[in-house]
Amino acid sequence: MPVAKIAPSMLSSDFAFLATEAQRMVKLGADYLHMDVMVRLLCWCSWSDCHLMVSNPGQWVDDFAKAGASLFTFHIEATADAPGLIDRIHAAGMKAGISVKPKTSIEAILHVADKVDMVLVMTVEPGFGGQKMMPDCLDKVRELRAKYPDLDIEVDGGIDVSNIEQAAQAGANVIVAGTGIFGHPAPGEAIEILRGAVTK
Ligand code: DX5
Ligand code: ZN
Repeated sequence: MPVAKIAPSMLSSDFAFLATEAQRMVKLGADYLHMDVMVRLLCWCSWSDCHLMVSNPGQWVDDFAKAGASLFTFHIEATADAPGLIDRIHAAGMKAGISVKPKTSIEAILHVADKVDMVLVMTVEPGFGGQKMMPDCLDKVRELRAKYPDLDIEVDGGIDVSNIEQAAQAGANVIVAGTGIFGHPAPGEAIEILRGAVTK
C-alpha cells in the first residue's frame, strides 16, 4: 500500500478565514488541502489537491498551474479526451488525477490508470459536503487496488473516523474528509485516526 495522505476538504472550512483554516490544517498534519472547484472563483491554490467538478476542465489547466496547484483532478465524465488532458496537465508541471462518480464503473478509467498519478473514487455524488458515504463505491477501490498495488487511490465523500477502516481496507490511501475533520471536536486527532487506519 502506498503512503497515507490526508486531505482535509476546505469546502467544510470557514471561508471567511480560508488562509487561517488552511494553516490550522497544515499544523495539524494535513498532507494536502483538498480544494473543490465548482465555480469560476479560485484565488488561492498553492500546493493543493484541486478537484475540478466542472464540465470543461481542460480550460483551467494553465490557470491552475500558474496558481501553484500540485495535483489537478478532473472527472472522466467531463472530457472526451482523457489521455490528451493528462498530457497537458503533466506538461504544465502538475500531477494528474482522474475521478469517477458513483454511477460510473471503474472500467471507464482503466485505459488511463497507467498514465495518471492518482485515481479519485467518489464515495458520494459530487456537489457538497456532509453527505453519507456510499459503501458500494468501495468495490471500485477494491478492484483498482487489486490491479494497481502502487497507485494513489483517493476517496472523497462522507469519510470520517467511523468508516475509515472500511475505506482503508478496500485499498484507499489518499483520504479526503471535510465534515469528518472540520466537524470533529479534535480535528488533529481525526487526521491521525484517518492516517493510522491507512498505515495499519
Ligand atoms: C463533494 C466534494 C468533497 C466534499 C467532502 O462533492 O468533492 O470534497 O467537500 O466533504 P465531506 O467529507 O463532508 O463529505
Ligand atoms: Zn472533492
